[in-house]
Amino acid sequence: MKKTILVTGGTGYIGSHACVELLNSGYHVIIVDNLSNSQKDVLARIEKITQNSVVFYENDIRDKWALQTIFKSHSIDAVIHFAGLKAVGESCEQPLKYYQNNVYGTLVLTEVMEEYNVKNIVFSSSATVYGDSDKVPYTEDLPIQATNPYGQTKAMVEQILQDYAASDQFTKHDSTWKIVLLRYFNPTGAHKSGLIGEKPNGIPNNLIPYVSQVASGELKELSVFGGDYPTTDGTGIRDYIHVVDLAKGHVKAVEMLSNAPLEKGGCKVYNLGTGTGYSVLEIIQAFEAASGKKVPYKIVPRRSGDIATCIASTSLAKQELNWETEKELEEMMVDTWRWQNSEAMT
Ligand code: NAD
Ligand code: UD1
Repeated sequence: MKKTILVTGGTGYIGSHACVELLNSGYHVIIVDNLSNSQKDVLARIEKITQNSVVFYENDIRDKWALQTIFKSHSIDAVIHFAGLKAVGESCEQPLKYYQNNVYGTLVLTEVMEEYNVKNIVFSSSATVYGDSDKVPYTEDLPIQATNPYGQTKAMVEQILQDYAASDQFTKHDSTWKIVLLRYFNPTGAHKSGLIGEKPNGIPNNLIPYVSQVASGELKELSVFGGDYPTTDGTGIRDYIHVVDLAKGHVKAVEMLSNAPLEKGGCKVYNLGTGTGYSVLEIIQAFEAASGKKVPYKIVPRRSGDIATCIASTSLAKQELNWETEKELEEMMVDTWRWQNSEAMT
């Protein structure tokens, strides 16, 4: 029988790609999203790509009554929890908004899950929880040391979910929590159909959306934040991962919820990255090659809070999730450029 997955934040950038992969893998998908950072037309686009339908609820996950209605109306097997705010700078200016949305939102969601005895959840965490570690590549057992309110919300939710899983050993419950925490490195790219991708709100904060808008002529030039890092060319190195590979990692995580080593309950943590890092200058070069456009840039002082190098150790996800990335940097750039020029973006 088809399993039903509730996807919070399913009309967003990563959520929409995950919905496509879930539908393509035979799952029934229900989305709940308040559309605070996405548009409703994404639903028709998901349906066009997959030739399958999704059920949509325009609700906030902090609205307990609305969530109860959803859980009452459907037999939900698992939840993938993407809904959240993600701008680091904004989180420093408005921490309350981030704790309210990301932490309180997760509390309401999991309270309703427990009420309806749905205790399977995959959570969108971030490599940001590692802070600035010098042990590259980052393994999942490194200490958590978030350095900004956004990162703190991810670290807190991870801890909350781990505590739920641990609580099962103390009390006899009807069912146990089965939890997968996924720490994303730097998601980029878009679906090859050109129908879904990332639509930044205002001027992008992240490198690749910014580079893409410089290439298209919407922005004049890129400021490269720091040319004096201890890296090969002095610019920051990151582990960029194609959003479709990332989305497929979620399908693997959902499969794991009913298989070893989680069949008796517990909480597992996995990095989702490629294990390869690229510098800012390498990204500019790759984007110029993919787009055939020049990306003018100047090197400016470092951005506060940035680190030199952030690369995933991928062996645990490979071994236990049975997942690894398939797409290389060139495809990430080509797909970003196609999306940049798509009708949805113009
Ligand atoms: P996104 O903003 O595109 O998607 C998030 C979606 O959640 C949006 O559609 C938004 O409308 C919705 N949402 C936000 N708050 C909500 C609420 N209270 N109730 C209902 N819906 C709500 O972001 P994304 O890039 O797709 O990220 C998805 C998740 O992955 C987030 O939790 C983010 O923190 C995490 N993450 C993202 C990145 C990244 O680089 N994009 C990296 C690491 C982790
Ligand atoms: C950012 C977030 C991080 C989040 C990650 C993935 C910050 C401080 N951190 O990290 O929490 O998990 O995105 O979404 O926002 N760069 C430039 N010029 C630009 C933009 C970026 O040179 O205009 C450089 C940065 O210094 C960095 C690299 O490009 O070296 C990547 O930056 P970005 O895309 O913002 O990702 P992260 O810094 O990894």
